[in-house]
Amino acid sequence: MSRTTSFKLVLLGESAVGKSSLVLRFVRNEFSDFRESTIGAAFLTQTVNLDENTAIKFEIWDTAGQERYKSLAPIYFRNSNAAVIVYDITQPPETSFEKAKSWVRELQRQADPSIVIMLVGNKADLAANRKTPKEMGEQYAQEEGLLFAEASAKSGTGVEELFMEIARKLPTN
Ligand code: GTP
Ligand code: MG
Repeated sequence: MSRTTSFKLVLLGESAVGKSSLVLRFVRNEFSDFRESTIGAAFLTQTVNLDENTAIKFEIWDTAGQERYKSLAPIYFRNSNAAVIVYDITQPPETSFEKAKSWVRELQRQADPSIVIMLVGNKADLAANRKTPKEMGEQYAQEEGLLFAEASAKSGTGVEELFMEIARKLPTN
């Protein structure tokens, strides 16, 4: 018999970096090139098996990245056990990567100190148009003690893996 533990996870990041796309790839194995911008926030769940005795249920808040929704974010990250902070590798670092760093700082100030934070460079399928070097994400994550991955919601590369990596860091006793 496997035991299920529930955890709250929040996605944060600039609009259009692919937060909803990553979640929908993870939860429904779907992708659309024409996804509409999230209004407010969306709630989804997905359960993964860590091993034969342990399952992790993610209760996921996919927040809206547009500036007008920024003040809502604390409602979603305040009680979160994990956060996925997303940027777009095809944008220059001054844009969505900088925004990701500001979310990290906000979580370090306001979120539960035990929160597991993962930084994700999305749109890895477009690496030919890369504007933010992988090393920049890796180095920042290392300095701040964050998990780090690049992924593609479009191809699916790295998506399941990033959630599994978070699952392995969560306390399940
Ligand atoms: P907000 O809800 O406004 O905060 O945006 P979001 O971060 O949820 O972005 P969303 O998932 O809506 O994706 C924005 C656009 O990027 C859509 O047109 C997606 O099809 C596209 N997109 C998302 N992920 C990828 C990816 O991995 N590769 C490529 N090529 N396109 C992607
Ligand atoms: Mg969205």
